[in-house]
Amino acid sequence: MANEDRLKAGREFLRATDWGDFSKLESDQQLGKPVPPLQKPAPDGATVIDLLPPADFTLGTMPFMEVLAKRRSRRKFLDEPLSLEQLSILLWATQGIQRLIRGTSIRPAPSGGARHPFETCLYIERVEGLAKGLYRYQPLEHQLVLLREGDLSEETNTALLGQRYNSAVVAFWTAIPYRTEWRYSIHAAKLIAQDSGHLAQNLYLAAEAIGCGACTIGAYDQKKSDDLLGVDGADEFTVYAAIVGRIKHKPLKD
Ligand SMILES: Cc1cc2nc3c(=O)[nH]c(=O)nc-3n(C[C@H](O)[C@H](O)[C@H](O)COP(=O)(O)O)c2cc1C
Repeated sequence: MANEDRLKAGREFLRATDWGDFSKLESDQQLGKPVPPLQKPAPDGATVIDLLPPADFTLGTMPFMEVLAKRRSRRKFLDEPLSLEQLSILLWATQGIQRLIRGTSIRPAPSGGARHPFETCLYIERVEGLAKGLYRYQPLEHQLVLLREGDLSEETNTALLGQRYNSAVVAFWTAIPYRTEWRYSIHAAKLIAQDSGHLAQNLYLAAEAIGCGACTIGAYDQKKSDDLLGVDGADEFTVYAAIVGRIKHKPLKD
């Protein structure tokens, strides 16, 4: 497609789809099709890691206005690993489940119609007690499942177009568009893009509150990232990423 056509298509995507009469949308939900699952199942026999539940969090007591004043995109990190508590907080803040209401999940980050179309994959380089490798967050159980053990720092860096820096953890968010399409049909794509910003901002703010820093990554290699995560690029594909690590806060300037 020529650049001009791509620009037009991009702008069209940003404009509101015509919401009109919602009852005539003929979404799969309105057609009585079954609701898609909230998360992918853990692979058979995969190693499972319990994360700290929110009731046990001890970090994150920084006043909210200070968190806002400190938030920045961070690309330089300390060499220390994240603690399991820090990782647990970041995962809960971005995609954790506060409660289920009739099978719908309510989370710290909002999502259009509470559809929550994302899966979270992590490349873990340095987290206390965890082997290096690729993991997936299972929000219903608040657990990690190990997908692939090993040093994948080079592959991850390539997927991020050289932007892994010395991060301790890389988060990749994939979207399963059907979760949102099931209810919103043609309106889904824009809602999903809007949703991804909410979870990323939660990551930024939670990270600052617990001695970590993050930088979200929009410029990644689509195919290399999808291949790394083992998703098909059609019904599930990467939509956003972020690098995370511990940081040393400088005192706030007046
Ligand atoms: C949607 C989005 C995509 C981004 N993609 C990248 C990226 O690929 N690489 C990068 O270094 N920073 C990326 N950033 C970080 C921005 O460059 C950063 O937010 C901006 O420079 C402002 O700095 P601040 O976040 O410290 O306020 C992205 C931020 C957003 C919100």
